[in-house]
Amino acid sequence: MLETDRTFDRLLDRRNTGSVKWDKQGVDRLPFGIADMDFETLPQMRCALADRIKDGTFGYTFETDSFFDSVIGWFKTRHGLELCREDILPVAGTLESLSLILDTFFAAGDAIVLCPPVYHPFRTTLERFDITAALTPLIRAQGCYFMDFAGIEAALENGAKAVILCSPHNPVGRVWTREELCRLTDLCLRHGALLLSDEIHCDIVYGSAKKKQCSALTAHPDAARCTIVMTAASKTFNIPGLKCSLVFVKDPALREKLAFTVKKFHNEVNIAGLVATEAAYRNGAAWVDSLTDYLWGNIRFVKSFLADRLPSVDVTETEATYLMWLDFSAYGLEQEKLMELMSEEARVTVGSGTVSGENGKGFIRLNVGTPRSVLEQGLASICRTFAPYERKKKQD
Ligand SMILES: Cc1ncc(COP(=O)(O)O)c(C=O)c1O
Repeated sequence: MLETDRTFDRLLDRRNTGSVKWDKQGVDRLPFGIADMDFETLPQMRCALADRIKDGTFGYTFETDSFFDSVIGWFKTRHGLELCREDILPVAGTLESLSLILDTFFAAGDAIVLCPPVYHPFRTTLERFDITAALTPLIRAQGCYFMDFAGIEAALENGAKAVILCSPHNPVGRVWTREELCRLTDLCLRHGALLLSDEIHCDIVYGSAKKKQCSALTAHPDAARCTIVMTAASKTFNIPGLKCSLVFVKDPALREKLAFTVKKFHNEVNIAGLVATEAAYRNGAAWVDSLTDYLWGNIRFVKSFLADRLPSVDVTETEATYLMWLDFSAYGLEQEKLMELMSEEARVTVGSGTVSGENGKGFIRLNVGTPRSVLEQGLASICRTFAPYERKKKQD
């Protein structure tokens, strides 16, 4: 067994820590819902945080050159993305970034393209700004998802002012190719729309999908004119509780407007978030590689477990993220019944597919960011619960 396996196999007791995953969603259940992992984070990050706490002073703090250098270095080395300090706006969270962007560039009554199934807070955030979601569902073919470019173009022709992209995609696990991103950017440029690319899952990408991955900021020669990227170290290193995220804007006019809104709302990142993010980006490369290997092992484990015991469940190819998108529709259950069985019989919490959009009917989202033994326990329980449905399916 590799040392890294032991690291990620270690069981942590997260109950009674105020954890949304374990103390809210996971009461009397094993939680595989919210995108939060059950691994101890990077050791160098814990040391950096401990050292900072030893200082004992926690006054007003700004982002230092050293912080910006760590961000620039990570995105250049890991993603081939050339950034300079001015391109980076630190914000307290990725959803905060989205809210600030909406406040800056849009008004109530505007429309923005969303491609469901997709991370559902995009939609709720738009609703809070009275912005209409111009829904252009992804197209599913041979177990894979594609963008509906004709639908997106029609929405932009109809006046939609932006597209929100999830790249890599939560929940379908898709890594968009440079060609796809280029085509989408081209549509946005031709219609004077913004491309808001949420790249928070960019560090957890598997196997050959790594080769095709690129940031929406680099997919098209003129991408910078219309693209704003939202990202963070928070999914990769499991530090969303430390509230530090990053917005990348290369266009000076866009940046100036957004920077003004960030100031208007006094949206500042806290010390712990800054220290943790810098430590992660300076020291985390090998840890992320090991984490990705472990998660890939978990994904293969789920696939073979289900293929053995619930072969009618269709497993969407996961190219990125630690979230799996599983189609239970072969059992012909209403979504409510599917979720009731998960919760009340299997005693697990999973994401309901319909939360991500109407076309998530019959699906669940399974978070595999947990030690394999926990995953095995949850899967065994799911399989026991659905075994009668699988037998019935075979008889039909
Ligand atoms: C695609 C996506 N964007 C944003 C977030 C939330 O980011 P933050 O905690 O920085 O607001 C998540 C969390 O799961 C996510 O999956």
